[in-house]
Amino acid sequence: MAVLVTGGAGYIGSHTVIQLLNSNEDVIIVDDLSNSSIKVIDRIEELSGKRPKFYEINILEENKFKKIFEENEIESIIHFAGFKAVGESVNKPLAYYTNNLVSTLIILNTMKEYNVKNFVFSSSATVYGDPKSCPILEDFPLSTTNPYGTTKLMIENILRDICKTDKKLNVGILRYFNPVGAHKSGRIGEEPNGIPNNLMPYITKVAIGKLEKLSIFGDDYATHDGTGVRDYIHVEDLAAGHLKTLTKLRNNSGLVTYNLGTGKGYSVLDMVKAFSKACGKEIPYSIVGRRAGDIAMCYADSNKAKKELGWEAKYDLDRMCEDSWRWQSNNPNGYED
Ligand code: NAD
Ligand code: WQD
Repeated sequence: MAVLVTGGAGYIGSHTVIQLLNSNEDVIIVDDLSNSSIKVIDRIEELSGKRPKFYEINILEENKFKKIFEENEIESIIHFAGFKAVGESVNKPLAYYTNNLVSTLIILNTMKEYNVKNFVFSSSATVYGDPKSCPILEDFPLSTTNPYGTTKLMIENILRDICKTDKKLNVGILRYFNPVGAHKSGRIGEEPNGIPNNLMPYITKVAIGKLEKLSIFGDDYATHDGTGVRDYIHVEDLAAGHLKTLTKLRNNSGLVTYNLGTGKGYSVLDMVKAFSKACGKEIPYSIVGRRAGDIAMCYADSNKAKKELGWEAKYDLDRMCEDSWRWQSNNPNGYED
């Protein structure tokens, strides 16, 4: 019986696959490599000593996707696959709705056909919109400000609806805060296409000399130093949260929803300082205007996951920066030679 990991060659998926393999799970990856590299599969093998079965398939190609279920006994699905760039989603909403929503519907229909009962979904803190206060609890009001976020909220709503009628279905909705860091080996990590939108990959590209300086989007927020505050979480902690959730679902949990964050908020300037310490270099920056759609502050209350899953984040900010730097400095061109 296997765990099917969609998007398992991607950033969070690859770290989770290694932990699953290390826990003796039988893992199958489906990924179309639209935002990842085939080399990730080799590195997963290198780091875990096991090579997961890999299907290079776009989930939207329904017949090919269904064949995976004909050829294997799938017991659970962890669904990472999707497009994830907020700005791009504003310019290409149809591509985002198609890829994120339709692929999820295909998976859910296939699960029904093949009687697969456990499903873990990658949601995001973006579903809290501009939260009324921090720390954010799972029962806070939900809203979104961009098509990417809307796909996450729509999928959450679909999952809540189907779980109301199918009492045997076990669904884990995991709302990630800001994933950063990399595997301690420095062999796998985050490699965005083009100029990064997110803070950590932007800083690492400045540190490696590929970008000149960081633009800090606003220093007039109501935060301790005026720059935006977020809950950065190590990707290894996130990955561990998926294994704990799988255990929970296997005990017939029904639908469960958890914030995966550290509960600590750090500002952009705090990040610059911590990263400078990790890489031993100054990170040049300038303050520019606010980025449209940004909020001042966002950090999690993750006590529900602690209580119900026995999960809590272990890695601190220094470790997140050290691991991100090791990945970037050992692989200045990502997975390219
Ligand atoms: P990623 O882009 O590195 O991984 C996603 C993987 O899915 C990629 O390898 C891509 O090739 C694959 N993929 C995309 N569409 C596909 C399709 N139709 N068929 C098959 N494969 C497909 O992203 P990530 O950072 O690892 O994020 C994983 C999930 O977590 C995503 O759903 C994302 O929205 C969600 N999430 C990410 C963040 C973040 O900041 N990284 C935060 C919150 C939630
Ligand atoms: C963090 C802070 C920026 C870049 C996004 C998505 C969210 C989730 C995680 C998927 C903010 C500031 C950034 C830069 C900067 N993804 N910043 N200069 O916006 O919190 O969340 O990624 O689900 O949905 O919205 O993350 O890393 O882009 O920004 O000053 O060049 O860094 O203003 O305060 P964000 P981020």
